[in-house]
Amino acid sequence: MMSIMKPTRNLLFALCSMLVLGFLYYSSGKLHLHVWGQKPHKDKEATLSPAGNAYAVFDKQGFLMKLDGKLPPELEYKYGNLSEGACKPGYVAAKMTSIYPKFVKPASMFLDLNFKRLKNVNNYLPPFGFKTQENIIEVILSATKDYGLSPELNSLPCRRCVIVGNGGILSNKSLGSRIDEYDIIVRLNEAPVSGFDKDVGSKTTMRITYPEGAIQNPSRYEKDSLFVFSAFKPQDFRWLRQMIFKDNQRGVDGFWKSVAHQVPREPSEMRILNPFFIQEASFRFIGLPHNNGLMGKGNIPTLGAVAITMALHNCDEVAVAGFGYDMSTPHAPLHYYEKVKMSAIKESWTHNISKEKEFLRKLVKAGVITDLTNGILAPPGV
Ligand SMILES: *[C@@H]1O[C@H](CO)[C@@H](O)[C@H](O)[C@H]1NC(C)=O
Ligand SMILES: *[C@@H]1O[C@H](CO)[C@@H](O)[C@H](O)[C@H]1NC(C)=O
Ligand SMILES: *[C@@H]1O[C@H](CO)[C@@H](O)[C@H](O)[C@H]1NC(C)=O
Repeated sequence: MMSIMKPTRNLLFALCSMLVLGFLYYSSGKLHLHVWGQKPHKDKEATLSPAGNAYAVFDKQGFLMKLDGKLPPELEYKYGNLSEGACKPGYVAAKMTSIYPKFVKPASMFLDLNFKRLKNVNNYLPPFGFKTQENIIEVILSATKDYGLSPELNSLPCRRCVIVGNGGILSNKSLGSRIDEYDIIVRLNEAPVSGFDKDVGSKTTMRITYPEGAIQNPSRYEKDSLFVFSAFKPQDFRWLRQMIFKDNQRGVDGFWKSVAHQVPREPSEMRILNPFFIQEASFRFIGLPHNNGLMGKGNIPTLGAVAITMALHNCDEVAVAGFGYDMSTPHAPLHYYEKVKMSAIKESWTHNISKEKEFLRKLVKAGVITDLTNGILAPPGV
């Protein structure tokens, strides 16, 4: 017995040392992992985990390639005891970090008077930053005076957010009451609530808007919601200044469609969305062309993807509804509130819908966000 045990133990010892050495070599990050007999896919360059886990393989954007909805053991322990349906503090950031280790949570929703210190954005022109717009932003922020959410929302120990997209997929699903249960309900541009409550809910915490997307009819603005401005072009800030100072005499040119002439909200109800979310969504999460940090063909994320990125940093749980197009049903409505058909969607110069959808699929597949209308994982052609 002893004579067999000993060599086995020695062999095991030798193997262990080799594994340790191999592990150190792997951790040095110099080695690229290749699947035997298979060339790595161009877009899915396999690299080693920054955490030194030789088995975890990440795609080009830095997302784990094998995604499932399972909780990593440490999160299982942290959230396992919470009763079913209870809000899980820190959940979305923890889950995001587990599939995307480069994630750094702190990123404020809105710009405040210290905005020039924001390192990631002070060197980029709009839409990826605010360079050249500092003076006008200062004027705007000294008028709005408020830079955060309401005290009630700020004091919540756990915040659940839902981003309501504008997709026709929201129609006839009666999700309104479910959407209204969230603490923070984010709507985009001119998407109406009144008349659609049954499907899209009736509450709005904030409406994120760029000038061309803003509601044009003043009577259609809801009360008690924040008007959150997202700038894509330098002239967008000039438009916002006019709206805040109710100065609608001077026109602002350079918009691709007619824009609202007034926004019937008090300055204290207006905010500027941190442009970091546009930058992070485009260059890091979706992987759109950097183009030297300038707006270019196909490198602008949609407002929906920007809003989701904001929520990953500022909410404890995140759900979405009304996202996802099904290009195989050209007669389905594009938006829940108008008759325009899917077939009206044109090849976009600014967005890259298919790349963006890949990003959203990762989030849903991994269970980072919940898709209430199930449009994001729906296979194309079904
Ligand atoms: C969850 O419950 C188990 C058993 O009661 C306990 O051992 C564990 O510490 C709890 N975990 C947390 C995070 O509270
Ligand atoms: C929703 O239901 C209404 C009334 O039943 C119907 O007219 C409409 O076509 C439906 N819309 C969609 C997108 O299915
Ligand atoms: C979207 O990205 C894909 C893959 O990088 C690329 O082939 C395609 O041309 C892009 N589309 C647009 C509109 O930029």
